[in-house]
Amino acid sequence: MAFERSIVSQRRQWTLMLLMLVVAGRALCIRIPDRISEKATDPPANQLLKTAVFALGSFWRSEAVFGCLNGVVRTTVGYAGGSKTNPEYRSLGDHAESVQVEYDPRLITFRQLLDVFWSSHDSRQVFGQGPDVGNQYRSIIFTNGTEESRLAAASKEREQTKSKISIVTTQIQPLEAFYPAEPEHQKFELKRNPFLLQLIGNLPEEELERSSLAAKLNGYAAELCPVRIQKQIDAKINDIIKKGWPILREV
Ligand SMILES: *[C@@H]1O[C@H](CO)[C@@H](O)[C@H](O)[C@H]1NC(C)=O
Repeated sequence: MAFERSIVSQRRQWTLMLLMLVVAGRALCIRIPDRISEKATDPPANQLLKTAVFALGSFWRSEAVFGCLNGVVRTTVGYAGGSKTNPEYRSLGDHAESVQVEYDPRLITFRQLLDVFWSSHDSRQVFGQGPDVGNQYRSIIFTNGTEESRLAAASKEREQTKSKISIVTTQIQPLEAFYPAEPEHQKFELKRNPFLLQLIGNLPEEELERSSLAAKLNGYAAELCPVRIQKQIDAKINDIIKKGWPILREV
């Protein structure tokens, strides 16, 4: 009897400890700002990251396309490809709306980014993209170094081979300068969704711009993630809603 009782009480102790852990965990989840989890999911060595810049129409959409990919750590919209210094949204001069993609080359390659670039817009449309008309929506692959130029040129050739009826208008040029756009254009799709913003803890602007999670959810908000990732995030959010867990910290 005494033996049984001690097992029971031991079980109770374990249960209690587990409960305490869960409660502590919950308390932590609530109090600690999202910054902590960002650190945990960011690759440890930032210097391993590479940067690529593409123009493929409205940069709101471009950012959403790339932000959702596994291996993409950060996205920033801005202006590139022109000569005007310090361009602004209402006076961007000869620049194109662009997205800068910071990525971990161990998880995604420049070549794969090129595939996404080609499949995410109509490179044959002249003087615009979709409903957006104008030189600022032109298609450009910005390159850094001869290897990237070679890969870009080869991918353009492949794209042109798919159909000879029209010309692929995409330009390939070395990146000279990238001017980040005004804050209101960063993570634009996510900002249109107050529920998602709240779900990640209403990050201040600066953090929002640097957050990998925000980049992913920006793509999710625009429904531009690959189907598998879109579903995965759906499930995660439903789970959070069910549990009443207040903050989404990673997807
Ligand atoms: C080009 O690549 C080199 C080496 O990877 C890097 O150090 C440099 O910052 C890059 N330049 C731009 C403009 O991204």
